[in-house]
Amino acid sequence: MLDLSAIESGYGETQVLHGLSLTARPGRVLAILGRNGAGKSTTLKTIMGLLPTKAGRITLDDRPLPARPFDIARLGIAYVPETRDIFPSLSVRENLELAARRFPCANGGWTMARVLELFPRLGERLDNGGTQLSGGEQQMLAIARALLMNPRLLILDEPTEGLAPIIVKLIHDKLKELKSAGLSMILVEQNFGFATSLADDVVVIGKGRVVWSGSAPEIRAAEDIQHAWLGV
Ligand SMILES: Nc1ncnc2c1ncn2[C@@H]1O[C@H](COP(=O)(O)OP(=O)(O)O)[C@@H](O)[C@H]1O
Ligand SMILES: [Mg+2]
Repeated sequence: MLDLSAIESGYGETQVLHGLSLTARPGRVLAILGRNGAGKSTTLKTIMGLLPTKAGRITLDDRPLPARPFDIARLGIAYVPETRDIFPSLSVRENLELAARRFPCANGGWTMARVLELFPRLGERLDNGGTQLSGGEQQMLAIARALLMNPRLLILDEPTEGLAPIIVKLIHDKLKELKSAGLSMILVEQNFGFATSLADDVVVIGKGRVVWSGSAPEIRAAEDIQHAWLGV
């Protein structure tokens, strides 16, 4: 579905990705693991067109991805950044309505009612401002907003960062539900257990390259790789 081939990318003069290649397959969850600073977020920002690709190719179903973030989103790639990017001056309802309006629902797709069914907690907070939400509620809102775009591929950057264990469990269960419903995902996570229990496929990034790839059971068994590249 989504293919990155020999990608070079970075920030201005600073090159971070050095020939990175990976594939996200339909109906599967791909976890991208790696130490802090390995280039995981840079990979996601490059996919989303937020950083220019200096070399290499990104394709969705064998067609080159457009350059502009909005056009990439329109093709059905939804991105939940590490910073969650809730509009703080808008209420929960307004945050959701904005997404629903920009990406009108296809038949049988995600609607406001359906995302509130998935996250009933948000239903109790509809009139709260973005800043009045807990970290967990912000993450739920960010995921709900992404779903309202009715994506084919959901990309999440460290969705559990800074959250209490009980909320991590809730997010885990919800993502598992989405996976069971057939949604394709790319998941960047520091939480090894969380990532490998959701993922089908795993790539490990080190210094801007893929240093290992395989299945979730394989990485759980590969203690040498965990020590060398993840510090687990
Ligand atoms: N805005 C930026 N400007 C310059 N360098 C950056 C910026 N963001 C990240 N980097 C650098 O890029 C490298 C990879 O960062 P990142 O992709 O965020 O790592 P990860 O998500 O794997 O922790 C790091 O060395 C980091 O310091
Ligand atoms: Mg990161």
